[in-house]
Amino acid sequence: MLAAVVLVSSAHAQPKPDFAQDVRPILESRCFACHGSKLQMHGLRLDHRADALKGGGSGVPAIVPGASAQSLLIKYVAGLDKDVVMPPAGPRLKPAEVAALRAWIDAGAPWPGEAEAQPVSKRSEHWAFQPIVRPRIPDVKSPWVHNPIDAFVLEKLQARGWTPAPPAEPRALLRRVYLDLNGLPPTLAEQEAFLKDPAQLEHLVDDLLARPAYGERWARHWLDLVRYAESNGYERDGTKPQAWRYRDYVIQAFMGISRSTASSSSRSPAMSCPMPRPKLSSPLAITASAPGTMSPPTPKRTASISSMTWSAPRRKPSSG
Ligand code: HEC
Repeated sequence: MLAAVVLVSSAHAQPKPDFAQDVRPILESRCFACHGSKLQMHGLRLDHRADALKGGGSGVPAIVPGASAQSLLIKYVAGLDKDVVMPPAGPRLKPAEVAALRAWIDAGAPWPGEAEAQPVSKRSEHWAFQPIVRPRIPDVKSPWVHNPIDAFVLEKLQARGWTPAPPAEPRALLRRVYLDLNGLPPTLAEQEAFLKDPAQLEHLVDDLLARPAYGERWARHWLDLVRYAESNGYERDGTKPQAWRYRDYVIQAFMGISRSTASSSSRSPAMSCPMPRPKLSSPLAITASAPGTMSPPTPKRTASISSMTWSAPRRKPSSG
């Protein structure tokens, strides 16, 4: 029985295609954009053997080794399904490419280096989508290490045979802390106060985190990402009269973060807060729905705002 199956399949067999030379280039150039490490449309990944065998959202294996006729992948690339053709855009695969995929699958879909591989995660490998894990703190013993973060820094330095730079002198340290947290250098009076008592650094950091300049400095990065502007720009340069609300909202969001992390005492509910603490999910939601653009809702009625920025919306703001 087994012998008969082998005989039948070898009767159809074409010259055995080489995965690296004949197959992978097709998948890479025509499929990975949507079924690779960055994106898995319909839950399908084709850059690892085990995932490709398992298939995507349909629950049907995309590749059945030894049986191209039962492989969904072939059905789609060969145009045998009246509703779905892969790739869905661009030219269809050439008959020779389809033939190479068929022959490779019929030969058992050999995938050098991956025969035993387990399916890797369906999820993107982008760092932002990885679950948060608490890392092991490197076991480096040195008086230079004052907190766990120092241990991570020192481990990398030691791995390169480097030694830590000497501590910054107080004036330089003060300037760095100010520029990092508030984006502004310290005033003369602030410098003098600090130089009298450099041990107050921790309190100073709390103070800088609590200043509006902290939110303004760090909100800038977010606002750049969503291309914050007070007008649409380009040829029809309509103003976005309420845009500043979004700007202030992002700044307040950063202030909320700094309030909840700067010191444990700031968690007290009694702490006065000029605006309700924004929900941090909301700015994310805005970019998720309109990547790279900032489109606050069109105001129904223009509130009293300065004549500098006011102009009636002429058209709907472009969304997305
Ligand atoms: C532009 C994006 C894109 C490209 C490129 C692309 N696909 Fe797809 N693929 C999709 C989408 C979207 C679906 C879901 C289609 C549907 O079910 O209607 C899908 C579904 C599939 C499925 C079914 C998965 C399942 O189990 O649900 C297979 C198999 C497949 N694609 C194979 C391929 C192959 C092979 C290539 C390259 C030759 C390819 N695709 C290229 C977007 C793409």
